[in-house]
Amino acid sequence: MFKRLQEKWKVSALRVLLIIATFAIGGSLTGYAGRKLLDGIGVERGAGWIIIYILIVTVLWPVSVLLVSVLTGQFRFFSGYIGKIGSRVGLGKKQSVQSIQSSVHPQENTTYNIAVFASGAGSNAQQIIHYFRGHARVRVALIVCNKPGAGVLGIAEKEGIPVLLLEKERFFRGDAYLATLREQQIQLIVLAGFLWKVPKALTDAYPSGIVNIHPALLPKWGGKGMYGHHVHEAVIANGDKESGITIHYVDEVYDHGQTIFQATCPVEPNDTADTLAARIHKLEHAHFPREIGKLIDAKSGF
Ligand code: GAR
Repeated sequence: MFKRLQEKWKVSALRVLLIIATFAIGGSLTGYAGRKLLDGIGVERGAGWIIIYILIVTVLWPVSVLLVSVLTGQFRFFSGYIGKIGSRVGLGKKQSVQSIQSSVHPQENTTYNIAVFASGAGSNAQQIIHYFRGHARVRVALIVCNKPGAGVLGIAEKEGIPVLLLEKERFFRGDAYLATLREQQIQLIVLAGFLWKVPKALTDAYPSGIVNIHPALLPKWGGKGMYGHHVHEAVIANGDKESGITIHYVDEVYDHGQTIFQATCPVEPNDTADTLAARIHKLEHAHFPREIGKLIDAKSGF
C-alpha cells in the first residue's frame, strides 16, 4: 500500500508520510471546525445538522488541508491535488489555453511542464498523463494535436488538459504556436503518435527538448511515411524475427535524432499488422512514461 502510494505520487517514502499526515491532520481539523461552527450557530442535531455539516466540511476541507500542507512542506502537492479534484468536478474544467496563458506567472512556477503532441487515438498520451497524475513537480500541461476529431482530444477533455489545435499553414510557415508553448512554460515536448515532421523553428526552440516514440527498432523502418501500421506491415513483409520501440531525441530529419532507449519484442510467424501493433503498444505503454520520467529527473535534477 505504502509502496503503491509512493509510485502513484512519485515521491520519496518520507514525503508519503508527510502527505498522509497532512490528510489526517487536515481532515481532523475540518471535522472539529465543522462541529464547532454548527454548535456555535446552535443547529439542532438531526438530518438537517448532517446535511449542513457535510456542506461545511466540503468547503472547509480544502482550506484546512492547504493550511496544514504549508506546515508540513507539502503545499505544492496539495495545491495540485485539490486543483485536480476541482477540474474533475467541473470547476475550471473548460479552462482554455488563453485563460491559462493569462494566469501563469513564470516566477512562481517551479513545475516541469510537458506538452504531448499526438494526432491519433492517444493511448500513449493517456499512459503519460496517468503516470504523472499527482506528481509533485511534473505535469502534462498541454496536448497539441493537428487532427480535429482525433481520439486524443477526448482524452484531453476528460483529463481537463488544455488543447492547442495546430493548422498546417501555421505550423510549417510560421511560429505563432511557439508563443503558446512559451506562455505555458513547456520545458519538454513529447511526440506520442504525432505524424508531421517537426519544423526547424520548433527544434531550434527546443534543442534536446523534444522526444519521439517510434514503433520499430530505428534506424530500421524509419523515415517519411513510416508510421503506425505502415511500419508493422514493412517489418512483417521483410520477415523480421524481432521488432520493438525506439525513444529518441527529435531533430530536423525524420526519425533520426539520438536514441535514448530501445526495447524489443518477437515478431511471431502468424502476426498481422494488428497483432504486432498491439504487442508494440504494450511495450510503449510500459516504457515511454518511465523513460520520460528518467529524462526529466536527469534534466532537472529533481
Ligand atoms: C504509436 O505506436 C507510436 O509509436 C506511433 O504512433 C502510434 C500512436 O498510438 N508513432 C509513429 O509511428 C511515429 N512515426 P497512440 O495514438 O495510441 O499513442
